Amino acid sequence: MIRRLTPGQLVIASHNQGKVREIRDLLSPYGVEPVSAGELGLPEPEETGTTFAENALLKAQASAAGSGLVALADDSGLIVDALGGMPGVYTADWAEQATYEGGPGRDWYMAMGKVEGKLVALGSDAARTARFVCTLAIAWPDGHHQIYEGKVEGELTWPPRGTLGFGYDPVFVPQGHQQTFAELDPAAKHAMSHRADAFAKLVAEALT
Ligand code: IMP
Repeated sequence: MIRRLTPGQLVIASHNQGKVREIRDLLSPYGVEPVSAGELGLPEPEETGTTFAENALLKAQASAAGSGLVALADDSGLIVDALGGMPGVYTADWAEQATYEGGPGRDWYMAMGKVEGKLVALGSDAARTARFVCTLAIAWPDGHHQIYEGKVEGELTWPPRGTLGFGYDPVFVPQGHQQTFAELDPAAKHAMSHRADAFAKLVAEALT
């Protein structure tokens, strides 16, 4: 049976500041009090799934079990048609490298360059169409869960443009627009993004 979220605490099962900020903004009208997994000191599980839904569920269930609270996780990524859907579930991994003395870090410019390099290698005819996809999973401490999926179509541009947003935003131009997600006002991005699309489905089913 479908469950609804009741006002009160909800763990955002993410350690990604950009995502946490966007999810907080999207939840702010609904009387839920989001606290992040990072703030609660919950460990970040390894994303061993091969689909966005598996990974979102893995993260939500780990936070629900660790906190005893309802948890919401987002697994998202960039799907590039000409690259057979890559980087897909490996979107974050493509940015992974040892940038700091103390451990691994993420270098988004390197990751965007990697995508661009592969597109250029395919030749000038290669399609530049891509989409961001987002899967949201809500997990309750008793094991119940609900999943919502969203997407936004667009094209990849080069060089990167804009300083807003996060991740691959500077190279993604949503369909029907000229500006990248990193140039658009955050409110405009929130109105059309893959996360907003998934969120609208979550709100329709679990929050209204
Ligand atoms: P994960 O869901 O934590 O595995 O990471 C997915 C990755 O996809 C993020 O770290 C970003 O690089 C990328 N991504 C997801 N959503 C967005 C977005 O809205 N803008 C830019 N990049 C995104």
